[in-house]
Amino acid sequence: MKFRLGFLASHNGSNMQAIIDACKNGRLKSVPAVVISNNSNSGAIERAKKEGIPYYHLSSVTHPDKDALDKAILDALKKHNVDIVILAGFMKKLGHLVLEEYKNKVLNIHPALLPRYGGEGMYGRFVHEAVLNAKEKITGVTIHIVNSEYDRGPIINQVEVRVFENDTVETLAKRVLEVEHDTYVNTLKMIEDGKIRL
Ligand code: GRF
Repeated sequence: MKFRLGFLASHNGSNMQAIIDACKNGRLKSVPAVVISNNSNSGAIERAKKEGIPYYHLSSVTHPDKDALDKAILDALKKHNVDIVILAGFMKKLGHLVLEEYKNKVLNIHPALLPRYGGEGMYGRFVHEAVLNAKEKITGVTIHIVNSEYDRGPIINQVEVRVFENDTVETLAKRVLEVEHDTYVNTLKMIEDGKIRL
């Protein structure tokens, strides 16, 4: 199966780029349809421009009213006939309109083995810091379906990453991010091949 992918990203967008690259090199059949960012200066928007993918800056700046923002995001996804919504470092909570219309079709990636090291405030370096402080030997990457609770939707794929004794937040974050890129692409491949059903 082949899907139209809608990306929501707040910052760098390296996960998004890994998926776009996989669509371009034939590893995935799906098509990057639209990029939406709440940050007009994000790397994600720069990448969209470079790739010639339609993009939108939609945020509390463009839409101060929460419901209006939710509706604007939904309209952009629908305008581009998006089948699957990919959260790739998206730092905002999605509204109920998008979550209802795309029930079980919104995916997120988290840089740890959920349900551990997830929830509000657990993002970026805070996740890796907590993993190191707890002296974990194993961390990892989780892909899950998004519902209205932070990091609590059904898990569809997890991959472990080893923590080394001399790891710093930076070295661990780098190693996990590389695995994130492969894991997001591989998970989408399994969805395309019908091995994971949304
Ligand atoms: C990744 O670590 C992802 O797990 C988290 O945000 C980060 C996004 O990185 N949700 P990038 O923008 O894809 O480079």
